[in-house]
Amino acid sequence: MTEPSATFLLFGATGDLARRMIFPSLYNLLSDGLLPDDFLIVASGRSEMDDDAFRKEVDAALHQFLPADRYDAERAARFVALIGYQPVDAGNADQFAKLAERIDGRLERGLSVYLSTPPSLFAPTAQGLSEAGLITPRTRIAMEKPIGKDLASSRQVNDGIGALFAEEQIFRVDHYLGKETVQNLLALRFGNVMFEPLWNATAIDHVQITVGETVGLEGRVSYYDGVGALRDMVQNHMLQILSIIAMEPPARMDPTAVRDEKVKALRSLRPMTAETVKHLSVRGQYTPGAVGGQIVTGYADELGQPSDTETFVALKAHVDNWRWQGVPFYLRTGKRMPARQSEIVIQFKPVRHSIFGRDGQHGGGGTGLEPNTLVIRLQPEEYIRLQIMTKRPGLERQVQLEEVTLDVSLTAAFAGQRRRIAYERLILDLLAGDQTLFVRRDEVEAQWTWIDSIIDGWKEAHVKPAAYSSGNWGPSSAIALIERDGASWHD
Ligand code: BG6
Repeated sequence: MTEPSATFLLFGATGDLARRMIFPSLYNLLSDGLLPDDFLIVASGRSEMDDDAFRKEVDAALHQFLPADRYDAERAARFVALIGYQPVDAGNADQFAKLAERIDGRLERGLSVYLSTPPSLFAPTAQGLSEAGLITPRTRIAMEKPIGKDLASSRQVNDGIGALFAEEQIFRVDHYLGKETVQNLLALRFGNVMFEPLWNATAIDHVQITVGETVGLEGRVSYYDGVGALRDMVQNHMLQILSIIAMEPPARMDPTAVRDEKVKALRSLRPMTAETVKHLSVRGQYTPGAVGGQIVTGYADELGQPSDTETFVALKAHVDNWRWQGVPFYLRTGKRMPARQSEIVIQFKPVRHSIFGRDGQHGGGGTGLEPNTLVIRLQPEEYIRLQIMTKRPGLERQVQLEEVTLDVSLTAAFAGQRRRIAYERLILDLLAGDQTLFVRRDEVEAQWTWIDSIIDGWKEAHVKPAAYSSGNWGPSSAIALIERDGASWHD
């Protein structure tokens, strides 16, 4: 790693992500004194605007998207003064030349470029940067998802960028990796002695990963339709979580060691086929219903026409390696679910033999014991809960067992610490050149390889989304998917 980049160049600066996440994150980094001295932000979008007009827009966005106690007018004024705005249309060499003028003399101190634009503009933008002389060994480029819509198109995107940047300069963003709770998975697994010996098929019955959202399309029709939940959420965020749960311990916390192990886990995912998708996957699409007491319309109504895009998906995945043989990973994610709730559930196996008998009574046959469950809640609250069996206090001759919860609320344990935006971590790492929390090309390709097997299976087997009323956890077949195996979704 070298000195942090002194210049941040943002494409797509007038977009939603920039207003909601990127500028508020940069503002927070400035507030905490984490940006280099003499930092320059060059913002670029297609709209014609001068610096002042754009700075006003950023100030308004900070006001809108930062918590009220975080926004400080004097600090915001200091922040927007770092920003210059340059209109740029991909393919317009004159405008790229003007961009280069703004950065003139600063390239040696490092340039971090952030592409928050549609992927179709990634390669033309990189080309424009190259022609304007903005790519040096000290230039880095960050890209938002989606990187392609299947393996073939992701290769095209990666080839386009890879022609001008070395892999060490490319930072593929998955904002879930910027979340404290996702990084906490590494801490939990590799910072404690007690989990790793049990983290395998001998002790674990199955794993569940749920990412539930209450929102619907949110005006993202043009992006979402034809993409769907599998590509939008599973291909990236959920498979990244899965890879961190399933990976072997890396030798050290560095980009190569961590990503080598993640990619091995991703490559171990058992591909699906037209035959297996029928019992290993469920597609759903929301219809009108109620979420949090609010009546909401269905997907097709929001879209204005019928569609075969899934807004919910549930999968039973297998990681075919020594550690995970026979341990299903159940994944589910959807829009218009009853709650915004993301969690990981590690369901342990029952004890081999109960000395307490059925229902905790001494003697008798079966175990009567509830198996241990580890619940890692990622959002909205952040906690780790472990359900264990204990003796109920009392003088009964027969031991009475009861399940209790060991509860670690991370929010309470770290009270007083500000909850950071995931992008703060990622932008800081981009500036510093640390790729550990960014997705390597081979990871993206392993992710797409598995996702393509599902999409091809759906096509071949004509699997269409089943309807579910908004405010439910997907179609009833999603419940059957796990209950067939004698388990159930964690409530
Ligand atoms: C994005 C998806 O990548 O992640 C959205 O495109 C989704 O559809 C979002 O709503 C969820 O992110 P978070 O951080 O709110 O869980």
